Parts: sequence; structure tokens; C-alpha cells
Amino acid sequence: MKFFLDTANLAEIKRINELGLVDGVTTNPTIIAQENRDFETVIKEICALVDGPVSAEVVSLETEGMVKEAQELVRWATNVVVKIPMTEAGLKAVHQLSKLGIKTNVTLIFTVAQGLMAAKAGATYISPFLGRLDDIGMESLLLIQSLRQVLDNYGYQTEIIAASIRNLTHVEKVAEAGTDIATIPGTLFPKLWSHPLTDLGITRFMKDWEAFQNN
Ligand code: G3P
Repeated sequence: MKFFLDTANLAEIKRINELGLVDGVTTNPTIIAQENRDFETVIKEICALVDGPVSAEVVSLETEGMVKEAQELVRWATNVVVKIPMTEAGLKAVHQLSKLGIKTNVTLIFTVAQGLMAAKAGATYISPFLGRLDDIGMESLLLIQSLRQVLDNYGYQTEIIAASIRNLTHVEKVAEAGTDIATIPGTLFPKLWSHPLTDLGITRFMKDWEAFQNN
């Protein structure tokens, strides 16, 4: 399974990238706004840091505007993937962009049908949102399982990015369900390698070692 970072924070990306754990980065307008920096500068810096796809989202809602923005975004760096919202205009843009060889990540996927439509239109990636489905009382993991099954049934090459990941269980369960990628917030990522019993164990080993040295 590949791990993407769902953040535009350079410090977070640098820290986790140095562990060799970052296969790519995803952003969206909310994430970019949180950094309060110039969009183009931030995306270029991330692209230079990470050896993998970096999603940058369009803000137009019309096909023509999306395609125009996409063509500009991919000029910023060779690893930019254009994030497109899951709408009719978005599908049309994805279809056109795929014919131009521009990689896309269709975002805000909440049903299997939406995922299938995006894959058929030519999306490189689809981003089903787990946390936001949980927020409305839906069983988000079923969506990942079903998407995995239907994409495999028909041999689509589109990769599933499990997004809106909120906790460790989400990460473990989407891995079980066969997602291609999980995109994880920078603040959650360190929890993937941590456990209180690990910390406690280290403290005890150190204490015992010190006592042994002082014998
Ligand atoms: O990858 C999508 C993600 O950024 C949305 O997460 O927590 O705002 O639902 P969240």
C-alpha cells in the first residue's frame, strides 16, 4: 500500500519524507488555505521535496475553466496531478484531460457509482472520503471494499486513494480492504508508528540498564 500525506505543510512533509514513508501528497483548497501562502509556491516546493504525485485542486466549477487550470497546474512541476471535483463538469474535464495525458484525481467520491463514473471517464485516481461518510452515520469501509471489487471486476487501472482519514483504525481497515493508497493528515501520521507500550517498554529498558550499570 502507498502512503500519501494529506497536507501542504512543508515541515510535516519533510519530517515524514525523511523516514522514506511518503509516496505522494494530496492537497485541497482548505489545506492550501491553512498554510496562508502562495498556492503556486507551495505546490512547487512540495513537488521538489517529494518523489511522487502531488495533487493540486482546480477551483473552477465549469469544464472549460477546469481544463485551463489543469493545463496551468501541470506546468508547475512534472509530478503534479490535477484534482477535480466529482461533478458532471468534472467528469467531462477528466475525459478531456485523460486524452491530453494529464493525470487526474477525482475527489469527493461518496458512492460506488461515482467511483465507477470517474474511472470510466479516465481518472488516474479516485478519492473516496471516509471520515465525512462516518460523520453522517454511513459505513465508510464498505465503500472502499466495494470500489476495490468493482474496479478489479472490470480491470480499471484507476487507483483508489482512501481520503478523509481521521484515525489509525481507518488506515488499518482500508489496508485490509485493499485500497491502493491512503492519504493521511500530517498530524495523524506519527500515530502510525507509535504505541504507549513501546514508549513504556523503552523507559523500562533504559531504567533497568542504568540500574545494571550502577551495580
Ligand atoms: O483528503 C481529503 C481530506 O483532506 C478531507 O478530510 O477530514 O476534511 O474530511 P476531512
